[in-house]
Amino acid sequence: MLQKVLLMGKSGAGKTSMRSIIFANYLARDTMRLGATIDVEHSHVRFLGNLVLNLWDCGGQEAFMENYFESQRDHIFRNVQVLIYVFDIESRELTKDIEYYGSCLAAMRQNSKSAKIFCLVHKMDLVPDEQREQVFRQRERELQAVASRLELEISCFKTSIWDETLYRAWSQMVHALIPNRDSLQTHLDKLCAVCQADEVVLFERATFLVICDAVRAAHEDVHRHEKISNIIKQFKLSCSKTQAQFATMQVRNARYSAFIEGFTSTTYAMVIVSDASIQPATTLINIEASRAHFE
Ligand code: GTP
Repeated sequence: MLQKVLLMGKSGAGKTSMRSIIFANYLARDTMRLGATIDVEHSHVRFLGNLVLNLWDCGGQEAFMENYFESQRDHIFRNVQVLIYVFDIESRELTKDIEYYGSCLAAMRQNSKSAKIFCLVHKMDLVPDEQREQVFRQRERELQAVASRLELEISCFKTSIWDETLYRAWSQMVHALIPNRDSLQTHLDKLCAVCQADEVVLFERATFLVICDAVRAAHEDVHRHEKISNIIKQFKLSCSKTQAQFATMQVRNARYSAFIEGFTSTTYAMVIVSDASIQPATTLINIEASRAHFE
């Protein structure tokens, strides 16, 4: 199943940076060397076996943007499943940004009305911590207002390449594209119950994005899965620098045992168990025995 995903936003907003970190194993600091994207860069990313993301990274310099809305309008905006519009929170040209965003939504409404639309309010690391929520909500209201005038629905996320918010946003966006996500959820809930685990999380193998989670014990940190995505992805990259391959990880302490194991050909599973009476070997056998059901 091929899904056309448009990445749009003004030049320097951070589109190529996020694409490179999520799909091409860049570290955040490597993105400072990226040049401007000329016209549209296409890439295909295989995701969970049969889902292929056809990413269109649309260079944001003005001359290109004007072209997308005029001579290339049909070519760009037709048959789109997902639009990801990236805003640079530090941009000094808000009026222009909003104008392009409005033109983009109008073109989407005309050519791909049922597409999912996500807005990323990006580079939030540049906003002081205590102001982030308020700045984000304000921008979200402005973006929602433009969308509702066109009778379109959007979802907004605040993101930065310097923390787990990037993983959170991309996990949720990709989640919306997974064809059999309800049955996946049912199976994962069952596995979590059988293992008597606190939680079980599935990560996509190459990107380490969270695909699905089953949680039986509440936890105060709601962003913990994305934090783990970010940490393990960085760890995997460090392993590959020494020609080693990340295969499996276990963390045990007095409060819990955590297992991160290669699961299916396209996923890793993480199982967290806090019941000390459950032997680690039992958990590993359960993971092993359920593998085939998820392939
Ligand atoms: P075009 O290709 O011209 O459309 O630009 P782009 O949207 O692809 O921007 P790009 O990814 O090339 O990023 C421009 C600069 O922004 C780079 O120097 C990145 O390091 C920086 N950048 C990207 N994301 C972030 C972020 O979350 N925070 C901060 N502080 N800088 C970022």
